[in-house]
Amino acid sequence: MKSGGRSRWSLAAVAAVAGIAAFATGALHARSGAQQPAPQQSDAVKRGEYLVKGVGCADCHTPHTLTETGPEPDMANWLAGHPASAALPPPPEAKGPWVGAVAGSMTAWSGPWGVSYTANLTPDAETGLGAWTEQQFIDTMRTGRRQGRGRQILPPMPWPAFSNLTDDDLKAIFAYLRSIPPVKNKVPEPIVPTGAQP
Ligand code: HEC
Repeated sequence: MKSGGRSRWSLAAVAAVAGIAAFATGALHARSGAQQPAPQQSDAVKRGEYLVKGVGCADCHTPHTLTETGPEPDMANWLAGHPASAALPPPPEAKGPWVGAVAGSMTAWSGPWGVSYTANLTPDAETGLGAWTEQQFIDTMRTGRRQGRGRQILPPMPWPAFSNLTDDDLKAIFAYLRSIPPVKNKVPEPIVPTGAQP
């Protein structure tokens, strides 16, 4: 019992010392703030990662391999979009209540809008979002147009749902997308039904 009491005391002492140390470290950081990586930045990246993984952007934007238990994401091509090398035959004809089809990669979709391929969201400057500004990303998610002014973004990209996210959440998603490894992968343009405007 005595020793139990002593160890409780020492735990409290350790906690107190740790508290002082944490306070001192905090004060040190606050003073040398200019040299530290901006804390909000990494907080935004973490929040963005949480949102991207929670919402499931990768279900469509990361190429998958079909296994016996279902599609498995190709982590080397995280969020890199439909692989440029994966040429596909024309989609099967839609019949009755079945209006579309999806490739096993989960990155190519067909429906009444034609065939759409999921975009490369990595920070590669030529083939991903590397050249996009934060504002262009926010505008895309709010208007359903590329960079807020380009062509209409086709289904099944759920931008109408994402347009409900706050600016801070969209900024966090963009910050996270900026932090992932760039992958060079030029996703093909969609195939739209004859006579339709993309
Ligand atoms: C159900 C599938 C699906 C999900 C989930 C999804 N997307 Fe998409 N996304 C697409 C498709 C398909 C396109 C391409 C449409 C086209 O070419 O018009 C696209 C296009 C985009 C574009 C436009 C890029 C460009 O170069 O034009 C951005 C940005 C984007 N998605 C971001 C996201 C983010 C961020 C998430 C998660 C918060 C997400 N998407 C979730 C299917 C999806």
